[in-house]
Amino acid sequence: MLDRIDKVLEEIDSFIANASNDVEEFRLRFVSKKSVINELFEEFKTVPSEQKRELGPALNNLKNQAQQKLNELSNGVSSKASGSVSDIDVTLPPVHNSEGSIHPISQVKNRIIEIFERQGFNVEEGPEIDDDWNNFTALNFPENHPAREMQDTYFIEKDPDVLLRTHTSNVQIRLMNKKKPPIRSIMPGRVYRNEAISARAHCFFHQVEGLCIGENISFKDLKNTLYHFSREMFGKDTKIRLRPSYFPFTEPSAEIDISCFICGGKGCKVCKNTGWVEIGGSGMVDPNVLDNCGIDSTKYSGFAFGMGIDRITMLKYQLDDLRLFSENDLRFLKQF
Ligand code: DAH
Repeated sequence: MLDRIDKVLEEIDSFIANASNDVEEFRLRFVSKKSVINELFEEFKTVPSEQKRELGPALNNLKNQAQQKLNELSNGVSSKASGSVSDIDVTLPPVHNSEGSIHPISQVKNRIIEIFERQGFNVEEGPEIDDDWNNFTALNFPENHPAREMQDTYFIEKDPDVLLRTHTSNVQIRLMNKKKPPIRSIMPGRVYRNEAISARAHCFFHQVEGLCIGENISFKDLKNTLYHFSREMFGKDTKIRLRPSYFPFTEPSAEIDISCFICGGKGCKVCKNTGWVEIGGSGMVDPNVLDNCGIDSTKYSGFAFGMGIDRITMLKYQLDDLRLFSENDLRFLKQF
């Protein structure tokens, strides 16, 4: 019988070590009326009295051990070896769940929104899957015009064309179709282009589009808006430069450069020694675009701009590889 008592002790230990800490199962096996230990007590009644002196204490010890383990299990504390101290150190500081952080692109996007909201812009959104009309034709890209090739497009369907938008300018069109001037909105979002992925190019990235339509809106308003934005975003000494360019949907069009905030315009690696870095495109909305959206171009005028959020984030944090944004490497993301 002593052997069997030892065996039950071992069973208790291995239950604690292996089982899923099922309190009820433990109770049924070792503590309840139908438990092995209770059977041993029944048997104990029948053993000769000279053996009882030896078996009694062993059996009582077994019963106490079982009861103690049951208490520990139901309190959520279990010691893995019988008689040993619990291996949970309740004095240790709690292990914190590591919380996620806001992606650097989202942080920059939120900051951009904040700056423009204070200038009276609201935020609008549009679909990432759109048709040829909203992404190209209504924006004054003529059919078969090489301007379409400025942006390599991912087509989902052909005739009629369904595509992944190549820029956020599609939201300008959707917005002007549903709302009449005055309009003062920014439209952040993800865009797609059929590009080979490298440190400097990706097949998806983020832009923020801006649109301001009203009576007597002039190039001066565009310039002031961008100037204010740049000073808020990159520091109050930032200057802007609008470089003549071409976009089908604006006339005149300009590339937006800001003075390099890293070297202060003196020339460094980031600005490739030019003192200026490009952050997007802009211009006065082409009257054809207004007409395409049913807005009277003889009465209203406006400006538009489109900036790369990834580009601004790279400049702000001096990152040199665009791929970092989408690799989900925690060592990178935890730094923001
Ligand atoms: N859609 C242009 C691009 O992706 C950027 C752009 C340029 C947007 C000029 C505009 C604009 O609204 O006026 O390259």
